[in-house]
Amino acid sequence: MSTLRQRKGETTHKPRAGGPSTGHTEPEGSSRNAFRIAYLAFGSLVAVLLYLYPNLILQVVEQWTGSSQADSSILTAGYGVDFSADVEKRDAVVEAFKHAWLAYERDAMGDDEYHPISHKGSNLTQAGGIGYTVADSIDTMLMMGLDEEYKRAREWVATKLSFDRDANFNTFETTIRVLGGLLAAYHLSNEDPIFLEKAVDLGDRILTTFDTPSGLPLTMVNLGRQMGVADPDYPGLVSTAEVATLQLEFRYLTVLTDEDIYWKKAEKVMAVIKAARMPPGLATIFMNYQEGRFVPAAIRLGSRGDSYYEYLLKQYLQTNRTEDVYREMYIDTMDAIQSHLVQTSMNKRLTYTAELIPERGRNGELSWRLTPKQDHLVCFLGGSLMLGAVTTEALVGDVPVPPSAQLLTPQGVRDWKTGAELIKTCMATHETATGLAPEIVHFRIPSDGVDSMLQGEAPQDWYIKGARPGQFPPLDARYILRPETVESLFLAFRVSGDKKYRDWGWEIFQAIEKYCRIETGGYASVVNVDELPVRHEDKMETFLMSETLKYLYLLFADASVLPLSDYVFNTEAHPFPVFNPPLRTGFS
Ligand SMILES: *[C@@H]1O[C@H](CO)[C@@H](O)[C@H](O)[C@H]1NC(C)=O
Ligand SMILES: *[C@@H]1O[C@H](CO)[C@@H](O)[C@H](O)[C@H]1NC(C)=O
Repeated sequence: MSTLRQRKGETTHKPRAGGPSTGHTEPEGSSRNAFRIAYLAFGSLVAVLLYLYPNLILQVVEQWTGSSQADSSILTAGYGVDFSADVEKRDAVVEAFKHAWLAYERDAMGDDEYHPISHKGSNLTQAGGIGYTVADSIDTMLMMGLDEEYKRAREWVATKLSFDRDANFNTFETTIRVLGGLLAAYHLSNEDPIFLEKAVDLGDRILTTFDTPSGLPLTMVNLGRQMGVADPDYPGLVSTAEVATLQLEFRYLTVLTDEDIYWKKAEKVMAVIKAARMPPGLATIFMNYQEGRFVPAAIRLGSRGDSYYEYLLKQYLQTNRTEDVYREMYIDTMDAIQSHLVQTSMNKRLTYTAELIPERGRNGELSWRLTPKQDHLVCFLGGSLMLGAVTTEALVGDVPVPPSAQLLTPQGVRDWKTGAELIKTCMATHETATGLAPEIVHFRIPSDGVDSMLQGEAPQDWYIKGARPGQFPPLDARYILRPETVESLFLAFRVSGDKKYRDWGWEIFQAIEKYCRIETGGYASVVNVDELPVRHEDKMETFLMSETLKYLYLLFADASVLPLSDYVFNTEAHPFPVFNPPLRTGFS
């Protein structure tokens, strides 16, 4: 079985029917001349009409050109928006969640992680578990109405959960999964006090990581000793996404407790980042925590960068769009991404984001090399850009669904289109033997040498680096149950009402069911998305239950469930309500 990309034609992504742009495709072969003649005739007709009815024609041209560049849904609906639940598909996702949870509960209840093939659990450290899986899953049960499962999980939190563990835990992961999970459980359980009590206990332990000269939090925290710990692998450094993805959680903790300290510590990080960014808003993936500055490192939307960008938008939304500093930071940053990182693939003109890698010249001068690598993690960006377009980059407070271009700023129109294109690209990375997308793809560029390496079989747009027929697959070829594409599909569906996003989500769900589901219970990662039969890796990541299945559930649920006007989702898909801020942000 070849591990190479098999092109499967265009069958998966049909253009949306009825839109104004779908009839406008490039002519080919012998029809080209006929097209030219028709085009000339059409041109003359337009000239005459322009002379007779100037305004009418200009309107038509404006609509046509505006909508034919990229995604057409922005200008005219062309489809009826139906936001009612797709009950059958929604319930299939609930069944999948139960298949995952009940296996975990049977084999590993309370352990941090689950291994569905060996039917075992494990903890992150020897010091004992911190509810990594349980805390991450509770709000999904509440949403799905799984009352029995919820009661047992709540009981575990009330009687067994402890953060008094003398070991080092990742600050960011613990915040987004455990603290975020507890806060969302608190909200969705009608404020069951046990969840807030545990959240405050955990938040207080994590607060100690912010005690650095710059205020940037350390990478790890010893929860038992209540002490921040630097990452020995990256001395003096913290990663940008990790320090800038605690703000939603800590601000919400202040709103719930009236204690300002959480808010202030988290906000200080944003002030440091704003002061340190390189013009025009670019951020590398590592910062020096002594001095609060960026160090030369990759600039990317993938690992160690990703959720920094996500939280720029969501901080503005969480504070009910009252803090202009976050809007400005977001818009500057999206401008920078558009100018420096957004690229187009060679053949099918797929939109993707590349990475900038720093290089030192012989005299020590710094230059940046564009690398056409896109992590699966980047697939959050499509939906995020579309959400940003209709909120942060809109001219009015309430933009209809689907939006009309007149109500968006030029950046909003640009980002909406880029977002829709990026989602298409992420769907194109699902064109594999399993229909699952790999962890990392590289896009073709003329100088990549792939053609000579893989004569005749070379993929035209993207490939999995290091994949060779008959050899052990590279780590890039894995699918580890990641949520980012379905997250974007959920957001895109809610802001556009376009049914194709539900169709695509259903395709992904079916691939997960077919290739990741373990018959005896649970779901496992796949070692190579391009290999049949699949080989599994004995691990079920906690984000399957907290994110992937939650976003699929919400995609098929009635859109009045957790409306985007009232909620922000943290980067682990835990929903927090929007609030009018009790404190004003102290920097600008
Ligand atoms: C994980 O930690 C909990 C709490 O200390 C303990 O009860 C459980 O046995 C541990 N699980 C494993 C697999 O070691
Ligand atoms: C957000 O602001 C709007 C407009 O000012 C207001 O109507 C709404 O109640 C606010 N939302 C919350 C949750 O405070």
